[in-house]
Formats: sequence, structure tokens, C-alpha cells
Amino acid sequence: MGTAVQFSLLSTSPYGSIVDREFSYLTAEYEMKWDILEPAPGSGNFAAGDAIVAFGLARGMRVKGHTLIWHGSTPSWVNTLSASDLRAAVERHIRTVVEHYRGEIDAWDVVNEAVADDGSGLRDTVFLQRLGASYIADAFRLAHQGDPQARLFYNDYGGEGLNAKANRIYELVRELRTAGVPIDGIGLQMHIAANSRPSDGEIAANIRRLAALGLTVHISEMDVRVNSVPGSNAARLEAQKATYHDVVRVCVMEPRCEAVTFWGVTDAHSWIRGDSPLLFDAQYAAKPAYFGVLDAFSGR
Ligand code: G3I
Repeated sequence: MGTAVQFSLLSTSPYGSIVDREFSYLTAEYEMKWDILEPAPGSGNFAAGDAIVAFGLARGMRVKGHTLIWHGSTPSWVNTLSASDLRAAVERHIRTVVEHYRGEIDAWDVVNEAVADDGSGLRDTVFLQRLGASYIADAFRLAHQGDPQARLFYNDYGGEGLNAKANRIYELVRELRTAGVPIDGIGLQMHIAANSRPSDGEIAANIRRLAALGLTVHISEMDVRVNSVPGSNAARLEAQKATYHDVVRVCVMEPRCEAVTFWGVTDAHSWIRGDSPLLFDAQYAAKPAYFGVLDAFSGR
């Protein structure tokens, strides 16, 4: 069971002790992304990422590297590069970062959210526009050269069940595997709402077809919004508990679903404003959702 963490919070209480006590797999929520690591060309800003890795490894935890290539965290100076300069910058970025963390990262989210939301094709990013569709395979090959021991994942949202986007993601990773590209796993982000999500059956079927490709599956960024659930706050929290329980249970029951990572510790620091999507509330008290997750992990 994992969580996304922020370096600045790890040294605070009770955030740090909850991470220490409750989780065994850490993902840097934003401090290992390109825009933070290299805000200007050649600038190296590894301090926060290094501290997160050190915190995890000192406690026998595993650390997931997040994320090498993502249109959502590309430094502004990268977006203006020519095709040849962009190719060189991508290669330098992946090599520099993966080699910097060589031997310390269990798995990298090599490419994040490269498929269009309607499943019609690849997302129209600066990488696709200037480098062509091969940028995805190239990124995986570069990451593998940088750290042959690290497992390499594709990570995306909105394709957790069986829909057009899930089908296009499936085709993408099937093509990569068929081409012998070093890809080991897939992250299903699972940013969902308690009353709007793929069914347990669809999630399980999607996990199974991805596993049949030889891929390890992670639920990689789970949070469950509740604001749109009708009724009392207690009813919303119970609906959230049931959703967390049921989805985590699907992962527990599927042999190739290896890990569930929640996208943050406490509602106080969720990227989702104005909702309460996580396992601990803004006062760091465990919510019903936390106990739903424990029940799922315990087979209840
Ligand atoms: O903590 C600093 C603060 O000290 C500073 O004053 C402020 C202004 O610069 O920035 C704060 O950091 C922000 C951080 O969130 C914490 O709030 C960063 O600017 C901001 O870029 C960062 O946004 C992250 C976002 O990805 C972009 O990297 C979110 O935390 C993070 O939850 C979100 O996560 C993404 C996944 O990587 C990919 N899947 C979707 C998911 C949600 O968008």
C-alpha cells in the first residue's frame, strides 16, 4: 500500500509518522517531475526527490519514480524547442534522472497520460507533434539503458475499466510489448468519485487483459471524490468507504495487481480542492475509507 508524498510535509507531524506507519511504497507527488528538476536548462534540483528516496529507503520502503515524460510537468523552456533540440533534451533528461536514481527506484512512470481522453489516438502533446509516436518507445528504451534494474511503467487515468480510452491504452502497451520495448507495468491512476466510477467487474477484466500481456498492474493514484454524493456527510463517507473497499478488493483478488497507491495522505493537502478524497481527514484522523481499505487488504 503506497502514498504520494511531498518532501516539505515529510518532516512535519503527524504527516511523517502516518507515512512511516501506514505505507510501504512512496511516490513523489510532484518533486521528481521535469519542471521541478530542471526549471531552466541544465539546472539540477534533485534535493527534494533525494530526500523522499532517502526517507523511503531508510525505512525499507520502495519508491516509484514519477514521472519522466508528461505534458503536465514539462518545463516551459522545453515547449519551445525544435524537434532535434527536443529529442536531445528528452534523452538528456531521462538519462540524467534515471542514472541519478540508479538502483534506488523500484519502478518508473516513464510516460504519463499519452493517450487522448476519447481514446481516438495519442494525446496531441509537444512530444507527439515534434518527435512522432515513437517518442514513447524511445523513452522506455532510454530509461532501461539508464537503470536496467528499474521496472518501467506506463501510467494513465480514465482507462481503469472497459471504455474507448482503456482500449486505446491496451493497444498502446500491447504494441510496445510486441515490439520488444522494455515495459514492465501499467499504472491505472483511479481518480474516481464514489458515485461515478467503472464497475468492479470492468476494472477486474481490464486488469486481467493487461496482465495477459505480461504486465504488472498498479492502482497508482487512487482518490475518491465524495462531494457529489447526495445525503448527509456520514452517507458520503460511507459511500467513500465502500468505494475504497471494493476497488482495493479487486486489486487484492487479481494476482498481477501488485500495489495500490493513494494520491496523498490527508484531505488537507489533496490536489483536489473542495472535496475530501483521501483516507485521512484534514485533521489527520483516519476516515471510514481507511478502515474500508484495511478490510479489503484483510479479505473482509
Ligand atoms: O508546495 C509548493 C509551494 O511551496 C509553492 O509555494 C507553490 C507555488 O509554486 O507550489 C507548491 O507546489 C505545487 C504542488 O502541486 C503542491 O501543491 C506545485 O507548484 C504544483 O505543480 C503541484 O501540482 C501537482 C501536479 O500533479 C503537477 O505536477 C500536484 O501536487 C499533483 O497532485 C498532480 O498529480 C498528477 C500526477 O502527477 C499525474 N496524474 C494526475 C495527477 C493530478 O493532476
